[in-house]
Formats: sequence, C-alpha cells, structure tokens
Amino acid sequence: MVDLQFPDGFIWGVATSAYQIEGSWNEDGRSPSIWDTFAHTPGKTRNGESGDIACDHYHRWPEDLDLMASLGIQAYRFSVSWPRILPNGGKQINEKGLDHYDRLVDGLLARGIRPFLTLYHWELPQTLQDQGGWPERDTVQHFVDLADVVSRRLGDRVHDWITHNEPWCTSMLSHQVGLHAPGWQDWPAALQAAHHVLLSHGLAVPVIRANAPEAEVGIAPNYEPAYPHTNSPEDVQAARIWDGYYIRWFNDPIFGRHYPADMVAYYTQKGYLPHGLDYVQDGDMETIAAPIDFVGVNNYTRQIMSGKVLLDEFQTAAISNPSAEYTEMNWEVYPDGLYDLLNRLHFHYGAPKIYVTENGCSYGDGVDGNGRVHDNRRINYLHQYMAGVNRAIRNGAPVAGYFVWSFMDNYEWSLGYSQRFGIIYVDYQTQKRYPKDSALWYRDVITSNSLKSES
Ligand code: FCB
Repeated sequence: MVDLQFPDGFIWGVATSAYQIEGSWNEDGRSPSIWDTFAHTPGKTRNGESGDIACDHYHRWPEDLDLMASLGIQAYRFSVSWPRILPNGGKQINEKGLDHYDRLVDGLLARGIRPFLTLYHWELPQTLQDQGGWPERDTVQHFVDLADVVSRRLGDRVHDWITHNEPWCTSMLSHQVGLHAPGWQDWPAALQAAHHVLLSHGLAVPVIRANAPEAEVGIAPNYEPAYPHTNSPEDVQAARIWDGYYIRWFNDPIFGRHYPADMVAYYTQKGYLPHGLDYVQDGDMETIAAPIDFVGVNNYTRQIMSGKVLLDEFQTAAISNPSAEYTEMNWEVYPDGLYDLLNRLHFHYGAPKIYVTENGCSYGDGVDGNGRVHDNRRINYLHQYMAGVNRAIRNGAPVAGYFVWSFMDNYEWSLGYSQRFGIIYVDYQTQKRYPKDSALWYRDVITSNSLKSES
C-alpha cells in the first residue's frame, strides 16, 4: 500500500452541534426548544437523559478550542442554538445568546480555525412547535429570520454556511418514524415538514449571500445509500424506494429536479399524500433549487434492502450483513458507500463542491490507567472512509474537506450518553477531556495531509 496524499488546501475539520454539547439549556435567556421538551418527557430518551448539561461547552468553549488547536484542526463545524438567539420563536434578538456565538467565532479565528456554521441542527423553539412546527408553512419565514439575524452579525467573519443539518431527520425521523423531537408518527405531516425545511433552505440562501457577499452557502443532508440484497427485481425495487425516501426526495429538489415522480406515485398509492402535493405553491421548487456553493455529505453507513421484507413493512426492509463489522450504533462499516455517494453527487447531480460534513463512528472505549483511550477501531473506520474520499477525489469528485463526527463524545439524541462518537473522550462526571488515540492519529493525518499506509 502507498500513502494517500490529499490535494493542497484540503480542509480537515471536526463537527458538533449545539444541543449535543452546550448544556446551559436555560441560561442567559435561552428558551426551550423541541429537544428540551422531548428529552424532558419521560420515555422519550434513554434513561430520560437530556442535553441540560451535556459537555458544558457553553462555559468550557475556550479550553475546547485550545484542544482543537493543539490537534491542528483546521475547521470547526458547529451549530447555533435558535432559542438562544431568538427565544420563543420571536423576532427580538437575545443579545447574550448571539454574543456567545460572536465570541466563539472570534475564538476560532484567533486560533486559526475556520468556522463552518450550521443554522439548524434540530433546535426548533418550542413556541414555534406549539404553532404547528415544520409541517406549518409559517415556520419557514421564522427560519429565514434566524438566517438573517445570524448572517448579519457573523457574516463578516464566517465564510462557510450550512442552512440545514439532515432534512430527512428533521422531517421523517422526527414526524414519521417518531424517534426524534417532536416525536410524531404522521406521514402526511412529515412530507409537509420536508417541503417546508427545503423551502426554508432555498429562501435562506440569498438572504445569507446578501448579508455576507463573500460567503459560500450549502446544506448538509444525511445520506444512507441503499443496496439491493440480491439482483432480484424485488430487491432492486426495494433499494430504489429506500433511495427515493431517504436521498432523492431531498436531493432532487435541491438540485432542481423536483420531487421524484416514482416516489410521488408510491406515496400517493400508500395514502401518504392525501391531498397530493397541494402544499407545494407556485415558485416553491425554483426557490428550493437556489444555486448552492457546496453540498455537505453526512454519511455513516448504508442499508441493504430486501423486497420481500419491504412488501410487509416499509421500515423493516433493511437486513443485516453477517460478514460485516458493525459499530455500537449497529451501523455497518461500509466505506464504499461514501465513495459511491461522492461519485454520485459529482457525476449524477453535478455538485459544484462537496464537503464531507459528518463521518465517524460510535465505539465505547474507555480511559486506561495512563489517561489514554485506545480506540483502534475508530482509527480503522476513519482510515477506510478517508481512503474512499481520496479515491473519489482521484475520480474527479470535487471534495474540498472532511469533518469527523465528532470532536468530542456528546449527547446522542434519543440514545442519550450511551454512544461515544468523539475523538476526544469526555468524562461526564468531571467534564475532563481526554484525547483518544484517534485524535493523535488525526493530528498526523492533518499535518501530513495524507493517510499513511501503515496506520
Ligand atoms: C447525525 C447527526 C449528528 C449525530 C450523528 C451521529 O445524524 O447529524 O447530530 O447524532 O448523526
């Protein structure tokens, strides 16, 4: 094996999101979000765990940024907490909340770390949920107001903007599967939510550009590509439907291709579009297709689909691979999935630029007597996925950077603190941080801008 060199200027980063790390859920004027409500509702999250304290990053951010800098991290993808900035879904800016991100951005720039700012990583103010949430069209304008406020204040220093993290999760996982806040199980509402999230993205793009003319703006969908179990027509069809549900329903509109016709037919036949696409108004699809500078790719695993199962129940169509390795999320390690996706975004969708905005794995390795965390499985995982990125670049895919999910162990939504995705270990009792072996390994990747064959 040879060392794999990355192009000059390739950006190596780490990612987090506000609710998962900040804590201080009711401090300095922050109002509750749908995640506070959900996590505080018995039975919704593992052991009732919430982001009330999390990694206490709201207070400890200077030391966290120092740690980042010590590892040579070049870019930091973080999200802003909407209810810190515009509490209760109102228009009145909470200066204390906005100041926090102002200082964070200055702190990053002072350490030579490039901020990548995500506007929505799932923290809808509860007040807006009470008014109908994402299935309600009015929520769109509220999000655009947030984009305006944040880009007005930070647009002079933040160059890279991500409107939404994972529209599939905001809509389907949260309103149809019901595992994320607000925990609905309502197909028609979920599809309406999807439309409003996409629309709010399309409307926010020009607003951010107006406030920050130098900015680059994109979106970070999650991609869980589907592969048929066999070549049988049933399995191929099952994979196609999963792909439509998870990827094309979001990606096609963003890239100007409207909602995929096969999925409109499928959802109609299932009764999930009782009034057709009546919630799509004239001009919406053009708005959603606003030109973007880059697309962010969040990818961890893939699905293997069996048509036999699909005929019974949509959600259980995925089957497992007995010969594969699985992470503690029970996600298959499948680096070719990321490689295939990058090619697809390049060759099929014509993405102008791609960042891998999230990739990583959950393994629970603990701290040994010497304060070390030997997370070799994470190093192997990251190495294989990064090698896939390298191969896609050599095929011509315009991948400009890669962000590890996550900088540090944090609150994994409904799974609470049971999943450790960080390259930094967090002791939640003491809030002490321990760089794992993968963090030191990543530092070497960044310094050499390459993957060493022996690592
Ligand atoms: C993604 C989310 C992120 C984290 C990882 C493991 O879907 O964007 O917040 O939970 O999965």
